[in-house]
Amino acid sequence: MDKPIAFELHGPEFIPSQYDKHIVRRLSSMDGQYLDLETYQEMLTKDDLLLYEVYEIERPEVAGELLHGVSIVHPGKVGQEYFMTKGHFHAVLDTAEVYYCLKGQGLMVLETPEGEWAVEDLSPGRVLYVPPRWAHRSVNTANQGDLIIFFIYPGHSGHDYGTIEQQGFRKLVIDGAGQPTVIDNPRWKASGVNR
Ligand code: PA5
Ligand code: NI
Repeated sequence: MDKPIAFELHGPEFIPSQYDKHIVRRLSSMDGQYLDLETYQEMLTKDDLLLYEVYEIERPEVAGELLHGVSIVHPGKVGQEYFMTKGHFHAVLDTAEVYYCLKGQGLMVLETPEGEWAVEDLSPGRVLYVPPRWAHRSVNTANQGDLIIFFIYPGHSGHDYGTIEQQGFRKLVIDGAGQPTVIDNPRWKASGVNR
């Protein structure tokens, strides 16, 4: 039987005082996701920029466990589009997630396999409940400063990245004259509704 786990999570850095995994995602892992493909390629030839990081407390990936950790999306843009996470459905679609924003300014873009979509504000102190079936992506809409979020989800959820890699999100968030603006993704392909 496991013993209780406790750790510290304080600003301004919000890096957990203990963690098991530190995942870093760079520009090269976002192939085909940013609208401005040309700028993406151009930026990539110069530098494989660090877009976001995840600090994870590892738990067995089974029902009953809760996976949790901190994600940090750095500020920046590819063309007009803000730095963002890859985004995913959970492999077990009927699993939810809780996000608690610790720092920064951003948006969460969500959608269901049926194409229903939502965009929610992320700002310090705000809690966002992602119901079962909703794919989710965090977007840092600030000109400077990280977007930092604490997340918790069921141990058996798994990640389905492939669906989003193929179809994209229905909505994108761009800098429209200094304001975060939600636009249609012209490359979005509606997926099977039979999931
Ligand atoms: O489980 C989650 O939804 C988060 O912890 C994300 O994994 C994190 O924000 C990184 O995003 P992604 O997994 O889409 O790369
Ligand atoms: Ni998730």
